[in-house]
Amino acid sequence: TWTTSNVVEEAVAAIRQQVGSKRAICGLSGGVDSAVAAALVQKAIGSQLTCVYVDHGLMRKGESEQVEKDFVAATGVQLKVVDAEERFLTALAGVSDPEQKRKIIGREFIRVFEQAQAELVAEAGEAGEDVAFLVQGTLYPDVVESGGGTGTANIKSHHNVGGLPEDIEFELVEPLRKLFKDEVRMVGQELGLPEEIVQRQPFPGPGLGIRIVGEVTKERLDLLREADAIAREELTAAGLDRDIWQCPVVLLADVRSVGVQGDGRTYGHPIVLRPVSSEDAMTADWSRLPYDVLSRISTRITNEVDEVNRVVLDITSKPPGTIEWE
Ligand code: XMP
Repeated sequence: TWTTSNVVEEAVAAIRQQVGSKRAICGLSGGVDSAVAAALVQKAIGSQLTCVYVDHGLMRKGESEQVEKDFVAATGVQLKVVDAEERFLTALAGVSDPEQKRKIIGREFIRVFEQAQAELVAEAGEAGEDVAFLVQGTLYPDVVESGGGTGTANIKSHHNVGGLPEDIEFELVEPLRKLFKDEVRMVGQELGLPEEIVQRQPFPGPGLGIRIVGEVTKERLDLLREADAIAREELTAAGLDRDIWQCPVVLLADVRSVGVQGDGRTYGHPIVLRPVSSEDAMTADWSRLPYDVLSRISTRITNEVDEVNRVVLDITSKPPGTIEWE
């Protein structure tokens, strides 16, 4: 029978079997999936695991600090932080196509890991040769949507499945491959991870890079980070975090519309709010958020974020819309 302690026990045994006495690297994305995958592997092989957190500059406000602080405190895992913002932004310069962005981000991710691996190998001396495994928090829906599970057509190249380059040098450890999100949260709870990590809403690996419709630049990211932080703050303050699955905040960077503020005409960008409710992200409905909460978010974003003069609400279910815009 399915119980979380059975799932944990089986996963731990399988990881020990697969990895043996070798060593593994796990990329932390800031999300619940990679955190639970890392905690599982940490439980299985302890100090044979080193986590790598790639700060790609596409994270939300305060998120990197949270990963470094909360996760390390909860698990005691060895963590290596790589500041790769410049590298990602350089690679993304001039690119607007969503699939292209996803491929670039996925590719750079692996390269940064390979670099981190090389550094860990050098630091580990003779034992360094054993760094042979890469842990990923791939979930069942990721497998299915990327065509890996059932032969379903590839909808988007999720960067932790379809976007991997051919020249990957690690063997993958994917302990969550058969699980849905709610099961992953239960496993995280079983492993003693704190609420802030276990109940965290999903956030895509490519981060804000796929929430800017248009080219990704530092200025646009900073702008989106501000808008996103306001939306999250108001949703949390209204006690709505558990009612919504996630709420992507999207910057339509290539769109401008006319507005008026004070005495002047503005010509700014729209921000899209995409609050959804869902069981497993395979299908979703748009969340019927209270009007007063929407109103506060709209007022604050247009007042506090330069260059944004309009906030719009996405009222599309999935299908036909996906949760993310790219
Ligand atoms: P879509 O947009 O396909 O998103 O309806 C479904 C769920 O997956 C998340 N998502 C990703 N997660 N890497 C991830 O780890 C990705 O490349 C990726 N793309 C989308 C999205 O946030 C939603 O929860």
